[in-house]
Amino acid sequence: MTSDMNPDKIPIVMVVDDEALNRKLITAMLTPQGYQVIQAVDGRDCLRKIQENPPDLILLDIMMPEVNGFEVVKSLKAEEKFSLIPIVMVTALGDVNDRVQALEVGADDFLTKPVDRMELRARVRSLLKVKAYNDHMVNYRQELEFEVRRRTEEIQETNKKLAKAHEKLRGASLETIFRLSRAAEFKDEDTGAHIISMSRISARLAERLKLSPATVESILYASPMHDIGKIGIPDRILLKNGPLNEEEWPIMRLHTVYGGKILENSDIGFLRLGEVIARTHHEKFDGSGYPNGLKGQEIPLAGRIVSVADVFDALMSRRPYKRAFTLEQAVTIIEEGRGRHFDPQVVDAFMADLDEIMRIWNSSQAEHSSELRETLEGRT
Ligand SMILES: [Fe+2]
Ligand SMILES: [Fe+2]
Repeated sequence: MTSDMNPDKIPIVMVVDDEALNRKLITAMLTPQGYQVIQAVDGRDCLRKIQENPPDLILLDIMMPEVNGFEVVKSLKAEEKFSLIPIVMVTALGDVNDRVQALEVGADDFLTKPVDRMELRARVRSLLKVKAYNDHMVNYRQELEFEVRRRTEEIQETNKKLAKAHEKLRGASLETIFRLSRAAEFKDEDTGAHIISMSRISARLAERLKLSPATVESILYASPMHDIGKIGIPDRILLKNGPLNEEEWPIMRLHTVYGGKILENSDIGFLRLGEVIARTHHEKFDGSGYPNGLKGQEIPLAGRIVSVADVFDALMSRRPYKRAFTLEQAVTIIEEGRGRHFDPQVVDAFMADLDEIMRIWNSSQAEHSSELRETLEGRT
């Protein structure tokens, strides 16, 4: 710590007295000690000079014209940058009132006139030590504060970069999932609009059912993967132009199991949810679904939600083997499935929010067809 206290710095002592002889006397006593002594001829002169050349110690006469010693102490102690400069008041011997008042305004020490050489040197030396220590502490604190600020800025900058990288990575994963899901959809149905609208409708239903925002988001990202297992189904069954027969249906149903296998054992939350959805989106509320014939609450809520969104979008869309249903027909089918195919609470949420669901459905179709147009134009 002492190493930081600059030993090469020559301490500056300011002598403030309106009597030239007193200033000269004190200057003569201190100069041989190696101090730089500056003189001020009165209180006002002191306050002016201190701005240009702040001393390490002030020896201050009390009785001066215009601005007296007390007023000088008061104004210096009130200003933060000068408040740590020790002030020694020089008073007439035995003037107790002066001493009390000097203490009250904040003086640090006293000397009585006439000033004794040895006493003066001893006081100055010890107060300059205090001053050097105070300076050191102030510098040390400022350095610490600076360092803390610098480190904090560094950490904030790193956090920003990390957040950006994280966001980018997350975006990349989500896009990959969407594209892979679309690949599975392309093989089956000639439109990728299905995964866009069914995932948005699923998320909307989850929101209406008051699931947490994090779960709603997970459902949005996980539900496009519901049919990803279809890449394991042979084309002769998947692309068959007409109804499946008894030998083909069990194979087709395996897409739920394959999807679960593709997504199982992940550490990533929405992939785990993707697995649940892939396995359960064809379960039915009355237990007549597949692959496990789960019933009611045995079917995870995400599966019950996606099942409504998936069927609704499929009904509304044109497929190679069927025309699109009208909205009324599609809604009737969903309503009729309440409590049989579908969870009643999900159907209720769906019916209560039909306007918004149709808005989502229409915007998904529009978005998808503009994307498709771009692809086609790129081909020609
Ligand atoms: Fe499916
Ligand atoms: Fe689907």
